[in-house]
Amino acid sequence: MTTLDINGKATRVDAAADTPLLWVLRDELQLTGTKYGCGQGLCGACTVHLAGQPVRACMTPLAAAVGKQIVTIEGVGPGRAAKAVLEAWKRLDVVQCGYCQPGQIMSAVALLEKNPKPSDADIDAALGGNLCRCGTYVRIRAALHAAAQ
Ligand code: FES
Repeated sequence: MTTLDINGKATRVDAAADTPLLWVLRDELQLTGTKYGCGQGLCGACTVHLAGQPVRACMTPLAAAVGKQIVTIEGVGPGRAAKAVLEAWKRLDVVQCGYCQPGQIMSAVALLEKNPKPSDADIDAALGGNLCRCGTYVRIRAALHAAAQ
């Protein structure tokens, strides 16, 4: 058994040290807001925060997450950046099919937490690895600018 700090709670999990964090979150803990897209670190659907940084949960072994604060879409907030991002996402109706959006939001919150006024280039650099098959990129960028105000 391993204890992880997930969304502010000490959480016991029973998985091998090399199990991807994504499987632990989804299959063992039923935290299914974090999505499986490619499983190869290419799409960003599985983005969570690990010690305050956005990471790909599909590429993060359980052992690398021990002793660090893990935040998933279910636990994001209640800080100013998260509140502003969630509000802007709703107000600007960003979501289309929604599948990639938890990952997009986790990357957006991480960006705003370290850069409260990101430029278009900052947004592209921070969210460039979060793919959206519906092409919501224009609304994502607009929502990030709105959240930054
Ligand atoms: Fe992890 Fe695509 S599922 S990056």
